[in-house]
Amino acid sequence: MNQMQDKIVTLDEFIIKSEKENPNSSGSFTRLLRDIGIAAKIVNREVNRAGLVNILGVAGSTNTTGDEVQKLDIFANNKFIETLSYSGEVCGIASEENQEIIEVKPVGKKKAQYVVVMDPLDGSSNIDVNVSVGTIFGIFKRKSSPDGPVQMEDFLRKGTEMVAAGYVLYGTSTLLVYSTGKGVNGFTLDPSIGEFCLSHRDIKMPAAGNYYSVNQGYYLKFDLEMRRYIDHCSDLNYRLRYIGSMVSDIHRIMFQGGIFLYPNTRKYPKGKLRLLYECFPMAYIIEQAGGTALTCKLERIMDLEIFTLHQTSSIAMGSKDMVRDMKEFVERYGAVIQ
Ligand code: AHG
Ligand code: MN
Ligand code: MN
Repeated sequence: MNQMQDKIVTLDEFIIKSEKENPNSSGSFTRLLRDIGIAAKIVNREVNRAGLVNILGVAGSTNTTGDEVQKLDIFANNKFIETLSYSGEVCGIASEENQEIIEVKPVGKKKAQYVVVMDPLDGSSNIDVNVSVGTIFGIFKRKSSPDGPVQMEDFLRKGTEMVAAGYVLYGTSTLLVYSTGKGVNGFTLDPSIGEFCLSHRDIKMPAAGNYYSVNQGYYLKFDLEMRRYIDHCSDLNYRLRYIGSMVSDIHRIMFQGGIFLYPNTRKYPKGKLRLLYECFPMAYIIEQAGGTALTCKLERIMDLEIFTLHQTSSIAMGSKDMVRDMKEFVERYGAVIQ
């Protein structure tokens, strides 16, 4: 082995080192991030087994050991909730899979300081066909009194108030990408040692690119300005890529440059993607990587007011030069009566 080769840095080592650089840290944020890494490994194991569905049993059936087989998004939800509840760092969770907020009971005398918002399994329509899926998460510091239960005010906050956000991509490799507001780092799971290892340090996305990612099947349901912008992408021979899993689609443009769009449609006049646990965390990562994240009405995603847990938004995010071009189309055609 080359003696000069860099030592492998595991996610745990990286988190501990980053926290040591902050003199006010108490260690609880470190434990919380580590818990997310652990839950991601458990979900990864199950995602990898999804192809064995005929052997292990389809969701809703009972498997050979007599256990009820869960849908993978419910499994992922339960694992994240369980893992985040053990160490006492989290007092509440908001998840796509739960209508209401989940109150996490204190562990011993610990006063939990954080709440987590999450989409435990993103792109779930891809599972049955072996296409990559993801997990999205965001972390806020609690606002309500640490002596009582978690409150709605701990969750209904602007994206700018998040202290960290990230995603896990269960793809050809499994990657965990996160930011605490000082750049973005990516860790690849090495299955031989069962650890996430630092593989992408200080990720900066290209300022321009030639990928656009949108469900073009809804083209006729988009507003005029979006149709004109999509025509422009096509005119320029940009490459269309759409996996139907936001995590995978965004991950591509993070590295290759591009734009991801989920505009409002006639069916979803306010957009489809959920602001709190899909748009905010992904916008946080995109901005930290040097990109831009707006709604299709040109508001900054991170500044949007949120009134309900499952509120949705339109979204246009990616390489800053491409988002700037998109903005010009909205300014030019947005006022035209259709
Ligand atoms: P989820 O699987 O968590 O419900 O999210 C699916 C989301 C997102 O990942 C993806 O970009 C989008 O829905 C796909 O929607 P369409 O099928 O309408 O394009
Ligand atoms: Mn999702
Ligand atoms: Mn989901």
